[in-house]
Amino acid sequence: MNDEDKNHNTTGHSTTPQGLARRRFINSAAIAGLTLGAAACADKKADGAAAAPAASGAAPGAHADANATHLKPGQLDSYYGLWSGGHTGDMRVLGLPSGRELLRIPCFVPDALVGWGITNESKKIMGTKADGSLRYTVGDTHHTHASYKDGNYDGRYAWINDKINSRIARIRLDYFICDKITQLPNVQGFHGIFPDKRDPVDPKINYTTRVFCGAEFATPLPNAGVEDGSKYRSMFSCVDAETMEVRWQVVIDGNCDLAATSYDGKLAATNQYNTEMGAHYEDMMSAERDACLFFNVARIEEAVKAGRFKTIGGSKVPVVDGTREANKDPKTALTAYVSVPKNPHGVNASPDQKYFICAGKLSPTATVIELAKVLDWFDGKLDKIDGAIAAEVEIGLGPLHTAFDGRGNAYTTLFLDSQVVKWNVEKAIAFHKGDKTAKYVVDRLDVQYQPGHINGSQSETIAADGKYLAVGCKFSKDRFLPVGPLHAENEQIIDMSGEKMVLLADHPVRGEPHDFIIFKRELLKPKQVYALDDFPNAVKDPKESGVTRNGKKVTVKMTSQAPAFSLREFKVKKGDEVTLILTNLDKIQDLTHGFAIPNHNVNFIVNPQETASVTFIAGEPGVYWCYCTHFCHALHLEMRTRMIVEA
Ligand code: CUA
Ligand code: CA
Repeated sequence: MNDEDKNHNTTGHSTTPQGLARRRFINSAAIAGLTLGAAACADKKADGAAAAPAASGAAPGAHADANATHLKPGQLDSYYGLWSGGHTGDMRVLGLPSGRELLRIPCFVPDALVGWGITNESKKIMGTKADGSLRYTVGDTHHTHASYKDGNYDGRYAWINDKINSRIARIRLDYFICDKITQLPNVQGFHGIFPDKRDPVDPKINYTTRVFCGAEFATPLPNAGVEDGSKYRSMFSCVDAETMEVRWQVVIDGNCDLAATSYDGKLAATNQYNTEMGAHYEDMMSAERDACLFFNVARIEEAVKAGRFKTIGGSKVPVVDGTREANKDPKTALTAYVSVPKNPHGVNASPDQKYFICAGKLSPTATVIELAKVLDWFDGKLDKIDGAIAAEVEIGLGPLHTAFDGRGNAYTTLFLDSQVVKWNVEKAIAFHKGDKTAKYVVDRLDVQYQPGHINGSQSETIAADGKYLAVGCKFSKDRFLPVGPLHAENEQIIDMSGEKMVLLADHPVRGEPHDFIIFKRELLKPKQVYALDDFPNAVKDPKESGVTRNGKKVTVKMTSQAPAFSLREFKVKKGDEVTLILTNLDKIQDLTHGFAIPNHNVNFIVNPQETASVTFIAGEPGVYWCYCTHFCHALHLEMRTRMIVEA
């Protein structure tokens, strides 16, 4: 494998000897562990891929503003980025091109800054057990995508997955908060997620109404007892974008990994790396080809309407049969399995609305699937579903995810090569059809190191603008000051506006983001002050403040206005179940207060005009200084009240 650096570094981008050594180590380690199908890549590289992209002549940086990421003090970014936080369980909001982190939106995991998982309101969204404690305190977010209208983001919602507990969270993009979480029934390893872009039938519904969710692991259905692994099944789920109820599920052969949707609303798809339905990794890579599984959304919903479904266990969600056996006749099929090489990873929709692209992962290829042909198959006009494959071309080692520039080029991360490869989709199709002079590889850029997800500005919309690429590098190694064993990850920003890609900046990020989207800031209209009426329990006037008792249950109502809480002290008794409701009556933006109670595990914030409440058991008799934890005023330190607990 020592030749692969030479073979792939054909563009003259400098790589430090150190970097090469590290990459070799990672590659050989990965390949030794995986007996990788791609190992022979260097030997059998096709002309198109091996050809050095005609050294474009343009000096690197010719189109790029090398200072683009360095904004002047006070200057605003031109793009929002929504990043999944990985197993910190949050969504992160970045400004781009600067890469500055602006906010973390807690979803699945408690957060001490805002009191997520501490306030009653957030606990209700997260889900609780009978005793009122959180049902789950861990999460693992991977993918985030936002709602569409007419093929572009409409700024309503974003969604994010929790792989550990099969939950999907919705983020309101007006307040940048998580407002709903749904747990998918009867699935494990919920991984890929993608909203639809319009209704497959009703042309008036030109916006997102469904979110598709793929489950990566197969289990017994229902999951009670241990049965023969060959009987395990995984499912593809559809969640209603507004109600967040699960509309339907499809039981399938193989598994789901990433997800994609077509711009016409008719097709959703998931790539499958485990068509073998193996339980161990060597079983999961025994087949030379796996699949990209397509779902005919309209037909599935007709089947549900017609009652052709079952339910599983205690779930009432209709489940239709999407297995190969049940879907042989194209005219009635709900699903179609397009074959793609060994253990594919991401599936991404091109902004010209024509193709889904699957990256090979264990195959050094990208597969271009033509959506019109998939629809032809469902209409009985295409003999074999694999006839929908428009191209299958070599691009490099360990291809994972693909972004687009809106000018016909795709940008795919190569995990093992530690590169981004830019390739032209139509030229790849020409090459695949036999034009061996078609030079589809346009450029390669070394990234540091081992890239996973990639996305371009507006890349997942018809308005892909080809300005910036972000690459989530899973290893940072020597790029930042060492801080002990746990390394930051390296999110890199690339200028993609020219013929050649230009690396602009490294950004250390706390582990461990996966996917992200980047869109123009004009598409969002964030609100900075809440509406009092949005909270049924709001304390709208300081005069409503006070303590009311109902047996052992005590309600404390309070307001905050810098630099004071409306109650100077309040009395409760040891063992009382205290519900404290706090409304922030300050109306000015950025005037957030906090509320902490010593020894009672209480701390949360209230943003302007927000109401939040906590419920806790009053502890040992004594005086507890409750204080404002969020800097609000010159008298912030003086902003306190006393909880007096009596025996
Ligand atoms: Cu109120 Cu600090
Ligand atoms: Ca496989």
